Formats: sequence, C-alpha cells, structure tokens
Amino acid sequence: MDKPKVFVSRYIPEEQLTLARQRCQVDLWPEDLPPPRDALLRHVRGVDGLLCLLTDKIDAEVMDSAGPGLKVISNCAVGFDNIDVSEATRRGIPVGNTPGVLTETTADFAFTLLMAAARRVVDGDHFTRAGRWKTWSLTQLLGQDITGATLGILGFGRIGKEMARRALGFEMRILYYDPICEDDPYAAQIGAHCVDLDTLLRQSDFVSLHVPLYKDTYHLIGVAELAKMKPTAILINTARGGVVDADALYQALRDGVINCAALDVTEPEPLPLEHPLLSLENLIITPHIASASVQTRGKMIEIALDNLLLGVNGEHLRHCVNPQVYELDFDD
Ligand code: DGY
Repeated sequence: MDKPKVFVSRYIPEEQLTLARQRCQVDLWPEDLPPPRDALLRHVRGVDGLLCLLTDKIDAEVMDSAGPGLKVISNCAVGFDNIDVSEATRRGIPVGNTPGVLTETTADFAFTLLMAAARRVVDGDHFTRAGRWKTWSLTQLLGQDITGATLGILGFGRIGKEMARRALGFEMRILYYDPICEDDPYAAQIGAHCVDLDTLLRQSDFVSLHVPLYKDTYHLIGVAELAKMKPTAILINTARGGVVDADALYQALRDGVINCAALDVTEPEPLPLEHPLLSLENLIITPHIASASVQTRGKMIEIALDNLLLGVNGEHLRHCVNPQVYELDFDD
C-alpha cells in the first residue's frame, strides 16, 4: 500500500523528520518564508495530512484543494486562529495544536518584556550605543518599579497563570479578567483577584494579554480601553496582534495616554517598516518569538508531527482543538 502523503509547510530539521519520512511520503517546503498562496494550494493537492504554521491561512479553499482525502490539519502552534476550524469540523477533519509545551517559555518572555519595558532596557542600550551616556544622573532613563506594582492579566489560562506565578516573586498584586474562569482555584491559592475588565484596566500598572484571538477578542484593547489605563501603565502583548487595535495603540502611545507598550505580536505580521508604531520610542517590538527557545520549538515540532502521524493513520490526535469530529457521524 502507498504511504500516506503529507505536506509540511516549513523547514523542519531533518533529524526530527525521521519517523515521518519512514511512515509517509513527505513533501517539505524547504524555505524559511511561508509558501505563497498558490504554492500552498498546489502542494496540498491530494494529501492525507497537512502540517502548517500560524502564518498559513488554512480555509475552505485549501481544504478543497487538498480534496476529500485530507485526514488531519496539524498546526505547529498552540493558537489556531489561522485555521477555519468550523469548516474543518464540518468536514470531519481533526485539527491539532501544541498546547502545554510553550506555556513557561511564553510566560518567561512576557515577563521579560514587562521588565525590559518597565526598566527601559532597550532605551538604555540605544542611549549608550548612541554615545549619549555622559555621566550618572538622578533623572536619566527613569523607569517604573515592578516590585509591589499591580499586574493585570487578561486571560487566565495556562500562560496567564504562569505569568501570575512569575509576578509572585516580585510581590505584585495580581488582578485577572477571564470571562470563563471567574472561580479559579489557582487564583485563590495565590491571592489573585478576578475583576471586571474596567477595573483591571483602571487599576493595573502593567496589563499583559493572554487571550486567544477569537471574534470576541478582536480589538479587545482599543481607544476606550486604552483611555481607562493609567498614564504610567505598560501594555504587554504576547498573545495575538489582532487583540489590540494598532491604530488606537499608536495614538495612545504618541499622546501619552499610556506610558509604553511591549509587543511580540502585531497585526499584520510583520508590521510594514513604515508603520507609525515603529516610529515610536516608547514601544518595544519583537518578531513573535515568545516561544522561541531551542527546547520549546523542538517540543512543538515533536507534538505537531505526532498529531500529523496519528491523524493520517485515522487515530485520535493527542491534542485536538475540535474533538467533536470524533463524536459526529460524517457518513450522514
Ligand atoms: C503559538 O503557538 O500560538 C505561539 O504564538 C507561537 O509562539
């Protein structure tokens, strides 16, 4: 019997592909940049499985192009807003993701951004390299204290909780807002307070975003929300760019409505170099690298490949975002 065909939409180190190559005919997109749309549509034709990245838009057109033999879509990310999951579910196609393994790494990075922004690490580096460091001064490059400050966590899932755990080490007061997690036992254990969004925005010195991107969370932070934040507040986004209205953020940073922001994610990604946000000095921006450690990326690839191989074999994925597909009878 022919081995199942799979398309892997980005370069993966060969040593991690051994099992997949033994069990499948692997078509690997060898480049660092994502396949252009027409190449994606061409390469998925007739495949049994697709391993994709968050930069690949997987919609009905891609599923049509793959055809009825497509048994699994395995996203190498925990977020899956790049995939039309309801369309996949309608077709009985399980969609896999990579939860758990990037939780700590992402929270580490969110806290790194919080500290870098609060203590003006990037400003200090630029200042020094530009030859502006002339003397020690009482008023130069003053930042905001972290110890004892109030951290507002928007989205109290796995990563939000890890962010809270890090904040405990700095004796921070922790507020969180999460519509589906009002009575969280971990929150009770660490003394984090569940509040409404308004209270979180008004009282926090740092607001860190950890919600997935859904219709309901699109531009969750816009003009009105930024206006409620303290003028000294710092916004950190390691979730998805679309959670923040970039134009509103630009105006808020430019006009001093909030103090500064640190973004690992933007809308779009990458931001065009002429984007006004990039002209601001009170913004730290990194290229969506919160989960980018050697160890974590290795584990994400491992899980995505595992989901892919299970899916092409008709077995249940270990991490499936639409498990309903296993309950429905698609022969109807
Ligand atoms: C994810 O997995 O969704 C992250 O954004 C990747 O860092």
